[in-house]
Amino acid sequence: KVVAVIMVGGPTKGTRFRPLSFNTPKPLFPLAGQPMVHHPISACKRIPNLAQIFLIGFYEEREFALYVSSLSNELRLPVRYLKEDKPHGSAGGIYYFRDIILEDSPSYIFLLNCDVCCNFPLPDMLEAHKRYGGMGTILVNKVSAESANQFGALVADPVTNELLHYTEKPETFVSDLINCGVYAFTSEIFDYIQDVSIHREGRANLRRVSSFEALQSATRNLPIDFVRLDQDILTPLAGKKRLYTYETMEFWEQIKTPGMSLKCSALYLAQFQLTSPHLLASGNGTRSATIVGDVYIHPSAKVHPTAKIGPNVSISANVRVAPGVRLISCIILDDVEIMDNAVVINSIIGWKSSVGKWSRVQANGDYKDKLGITILGEAVIVEDEVVVTNSIVLPNKTLNLSVLEEIIL
Ligand code: GDD
Repeated sequence: KVVAVIMVGGPTKGTRFRPLSFNTPKPLFPLAGQPMVHHPISACKRIPNLAQIFLIGFYEEREFALYVSSLSNELRLPVRYLKEDKPHGSAGGIYYFRDIILEDSPSYIFLLNCDVCCNFPLPDMLEAHKRYGGMGTILVNKVSAESANQFGALVADPVTNELLHYTEKPETFVSDLINCGVYAFTSEIFDYIQDVSIHREGRANLRRVSSFEALQSATRNLPIDFVRLDQDILTPLAGKKRLYTYETMEFWEQIKTPGMSLKCSALYLAQFQLTSPHLLASGNGTRSATIVGDVYIHPSAKVHPTAKIGPNVSISANVRVAPGVRLISCIILDDVEIMDNAVVINSIIGWKSSVGKWSRVQANGDYKDKLGITILGEAVIVEDEVVVTNSIVLPNKTLNLSVLEEIIL
């Protein structure tokens, strides 16, 4: 049997995702019209002998309850949300729930970060993991040398794929091969996490009787039940024939900012062509809008046939799109109204917002730049004939004048 665990984090972790994380936990923010965690979860469906999926986080239970129960029905597979009372770190979290995770005595455990976007080649990874015979296999890929230090950088044996060296977010260049945040483990992982905890406990006791407290590094002062997968497990186990790598040549991105969510929405829409073409709008028929490229439109949305939509547009529930509207590269969240002849380009329009007649909400689309996409928070009103460019507007604001490169608080 196999189980999958998806680490969803908690409210304190989503700060870079503001203002979109104010009223929705980041893992439930829609990409290509589906909650962010939906994408790794649907990839899990392809794992042979998958028994259960767990989401572990420290968001309130009620925020995930509805989602998790409807998902269990849809997948015909138990999906459970396990809430930590406080953050335990990426390895401490699974250790905290070890009894539940190990209930069915799974032979393999997948561990996935919820904030990565890729095609999750899980069945192939599992085959490789079995071949290597190690304790864990890490999905890795090559990124540009300049960006490598934002991730876990690693060195692997080119022949055996063994992980030889691992540094989390190194200060100087180590390697352009990085950790994708997707792992296959045997249950042995729990023994290693326990060792780290016991070690810490020993050190903590020692500290109480020593006078060297001031010399202890921040790392050593971590609570004994807080264990990080990267620094505490991967780094010390590198080069010990317990960890191996599986390189993906397909797309991979990390989703830490709203700008990246727009980019990842495009990647997932493109992937739907292969995996779920029924989710893409076709634009056939005389009474439907003109559709360009990959577009998702929720069945409850009302889009006027004279609107032109795409590429990379996802339209959520109960959205109304009026005559003559043009939408390019944007995410339109629930209950938004886009009025006649408005244009939205490279933007995210928050829940219940409205964009007035002949208005433009736009940006240059530089995903990596903080103001490279325009974001309207929840319930923002853009009045008629107003132009909002490369700006972030916090919830409940009304704009009656045009703005350029501003953060409206
Ligand atoms: N439940 C729970 N509890 N989840 C957590 C906790 C925790 O205490 N801490 C982090 N997470 C979740 C986050 O929500 C995220 O999905 C994942 O664990 C990893 O988060 P971080 O530990 O903050 O690391 P990171 O995202 O900056 O970097 C990790 O992922 C990169 C790939 O995206 C590292 O593993 C890097 O090496 C890796 O390159």
